Amino acid sequence: MKILALSGSLRVLSFNTKLLRLAVAAAQKIGATVTRINLRDYPLPIFDADLVARDGIPQLAVDLRKTFADHQALIVASPEYNGSVTALLKNSLDWSSAPVFGQDALAPFRGKPAAIFAASPGPFGGIRSAGHLRAILSKMGMHVMPDEVLVSAAGNAFAAGTYNYAQNYTMPNLLTPAGGLKYMNGGAGVTGQVSTNTFSAGSFSLLSGGITAAQIDGGLVSYNLYSQFSTYRLQGDYATLYVQFLDAGNSPLGAPLSLGGAAFTSALGSGNNGSYADARDWSADSLAGIVPAGARSAGVTIREVKAAVGTAIDGYVDNVNISIIVPEPGVTGLFALGGGLLALARRRR
Ligand SMILES: Cc1cc2nc3c(=O)[nH]c(=O)nc-3n(C[C@H](O)[C@H](O)[C@H](O)COP(=O)(O)O)c2cc1C
Repeated sequence: MKILALSGSLRVLSFNTKLLRLAVAAAQKIGATVTRINLRDYPLPIFDADLVARDGIPQLAVDLRKTFADHQALIVASPEYNGSVTALLKNSLDWSSAPVFGQDALAPFRGKPAAIFAASPGPFGGIRSAGHLRAILSKMGMHVMPDEVLVSAAGNAFAAGTYNYAQNYTMPNLLTPAGGLKYMNGGAGVTGQVSTNTFSAGSFSLLSGGITAAQIDGGLVSYNLYSQFSTYRLQGDYATLYVQFLDAGNSPLGAPLSLGGAAFTSALGSGNNGSYADARDWSADSLAGIVPAGARSAGVTIREVKAAVGTAIDGYVDNVNISIIVPEPGVTGLFALGGGLLALARRRR
């Protein structure tokens, strides 16, 4: 049995996407083959029959519809927006089932089981959107499972188990000014030339603070990177913070994540960086996402680059913060989850 799973939220750290991942893991455990898609990969315009008449059906709508058609069941986790499903979810469903596909427009959906999940930071767990989603999927001919999994207070359910790496930079003899806002710069460069300095700020284990390898490999662990940047006067020096995930053998997993950099720094407004009034102002860059499967540690590197003018390498970095977050679903949610998916499996055709 092939199940299609999708979230109605695009947010990288979406509670519903986290809930969906748990649902996928539970369905796989009971023998289902699950395809999880990200609706960000299907950036469709708002459904418009005139657009179809003019330009034809968008290829993305054809592809999304075929994806529904290729699966025998559906799992949806959707946020509640103003008491209903998200516009993203409704629009994706509308494109996939529109009468522009002809008489049998609902064929990819008709007669197939569907399970509804919802998570909300509020007290009602998205119960109103779940009701609307039930009505929508039923109208499309799907058999919606009687059980729903609703996770209220999702902020508590999913935010536990945070591991923090934080550094207020204290590179010896590179720290100026002594008090207040501290920052790291790259030391002396070659006058008249572009100069670079790279600091390894060490690595940290991801298997800390109660995070397990299984959680990482199951796609359940997210990261939040944050750092502040500034530069000397308006010379164009800059710094980049890199975080490289490493596997168990300390080999890099994909390209490093980066914060700051030339474009970020040059877009900063001019302001006072603590010493000079004509410097770039301090500002924070941040990045969030999911820790890749197989990651066991991460290395932190800072690269500072001096433009041709000036002598010192003055891309400044401060207040680096890296949070690694493990979702921990509420017990009630997990029980309901198990019940819903078992019921779904029993409907296997
Ligand atoms: C436009 C809008 C309307 C919202 N309306 C509701 C609502 O009716 N009920 C509710 O519980 N939460 C509501 N929320 C809060 C969402 O539940 C919250 O942003 C949630 O984190 C979104 O889901 P996600 O974490 O999967 O992205 C609303 C959020 C937005 C952006």
